[in-house]
Amino acid sequence: MMSDSVYQRCIDPACGQTYGVEEVRTACGTCGNLLDVAYDWAKLPLPKKLADFEHKWSRRHEPLEYSGVWRFRELLPFAPDDRIVTIGEGQTLLQHARDVAKYVGLTGGELHLQYEGMNPSGSFKDNGMSAAFTHAHTIGAKRAACASTGNTSASLALYCAVTKHMKAVIFIGSGKISYGKLSQALDYGALTVQIAGDFDDAMARVQEISRELGIYLVNSVNPFRLEGQKTIMYRVLEALRWEVPDWIVVPGGNLGNSSAFGKAFIELKELGLVDRLPRLAVINASGANTLYELYERRGVRWDDGKPQPAVCGYYEQLDQQSKRASTIASAIEINRPVNLNKCLRALDAMQGVVREVTDQEIMDAKAQVGAGGLGCEPASAASVAGAKQLLAEGIIGRDERVVCILTGHQLKDPTATVAYHTTDQDKFNEVLGSRGVRRASFANRAVAVNNNLNEIIQAIQLYS
Ligand code: F0G
Repeated sequence: MMSDSVYQRCIDPACGQTYGVEEVRTACGTCGNLLDVAYDWAKLPLPKKLADFEHKWSRRHEPLEYSGVWRFRELLPFAPDDRIVTIGEGQTLLQHARDVAKYVGLTGGELHLQYEGMNPSGSFKDNGMSAAFTHAHTIGAKRAACASTGNTSASLALYCAVTKHMKAVIFIGSGKISYGKLSQALDYGALTVQIAGDFDDAMARVQEISRELGIYLVNSVNPFRLEGQKTIMYRVLEALRWEVPDWIVVPGGNLGNSSAFGKAFIELKELGLVDRLPRLAVINASGANTLYELYERRGVRWDDGKPQPAVCGYYEQLDQQSKRASTIASAIEINRPVNLNKCLRALDAMQGVVREVTDQEIMDAKAQVGAGGLGCEPASAASVAGAKQLLAEGIIGRDERVVCILTGHQLKDPTATVAYHTTDQDKFNEVLGSRGVRRASFANRAVAVNNNLNEIIQAIQLYS
């Protein structure tokens, strides 16, 4: 390992405590803050310009050049090539989405949808999981754990099933994850522990349990995970022929992606590989809006990672009111995002804004994304709903170039999709009405007919 040029470092510059890359840590031992993976770039081989990565395309038969994560490994050089774990993640697509652009009101600009649902487990998590597995493999870990709203667990279970490097232990909030995701964890053979509680409870428990039992934690408090997720931004740039877009819009849950995107761009700028940073918009569901509340309403800003009284005060308030996160976008049903401080750093560097969108807005945007192409799960559509709101406010300009990250595949949550399109009012009310969704303005309803040739022909002629 290139240990003299790679290390882990506390995100608080005043602390700056460093740890070896071989150490397993989720927090700074001195001040308790989050850790970054840090590099002495001057000692490492780097491309002169981003377009130099194109030379690798002709070697796509080699697993490390095929991977959409590791073909950029000069920008996440924490492991030697022979320890890298890849299962072909990151073969994703940036779709120029003209119809969805009209929906969000981007009349003169461009909307691009970054389809992370095309990853092997159907979500962006595989970018980070391949990086966490690589680190775990270098240190010889045998068991890995996560708390999850479903996608991290699906990804962990899949990497365990394919690589056989580790055994998976998964903590989920009971009844809190969608069937698509639960079925993945079960099918891939992971030990699945359903805790009577929600994600925030499961997250707190898994940290204790990993420490106690020495199990490798793959949640995004693991700094190596975020190194993998930086590559989502490299692929966006690659698809735009290395031009920096005006906006990156991403749903916010545990805030790993937004943190990773900020780190990616801060580093690219520092290395002279881009000349400017895009702006960042992080979109919360209004039923799980901690970041929105803190950043937009209470003015909390990046303060070199220092603990902030306003944050502690807000969490105490949540406890006093026994307030739980609640949204149809179960992937982002999180009230205590573990990467808050890193996300504040990203918002600071990328002139960020935060917005909250209702479940109604999420489901309508999701239907539009589906009608426009490959579709996505509810949490992902928060990015499109958020972009629409920011255009209406005039914060995103109508002629700008905007990239919304679609974090998870459409098939992850069939219950929400079918409830939106259903003709069964009880089903609609049970799944969506209970969340404040009143209408399904873009529903594509199935047409019920008798098993009779003439009736079927009539129905086709009437509706097509
Ligand atoms: N979108 C999807 C589809 C997700 O699964 C998640 C997070 C997010 C967005 C939020 O991303 O945490 O980086 O802000 N899912 C986690 C999980 C929490 O357990 O699968 P973030």
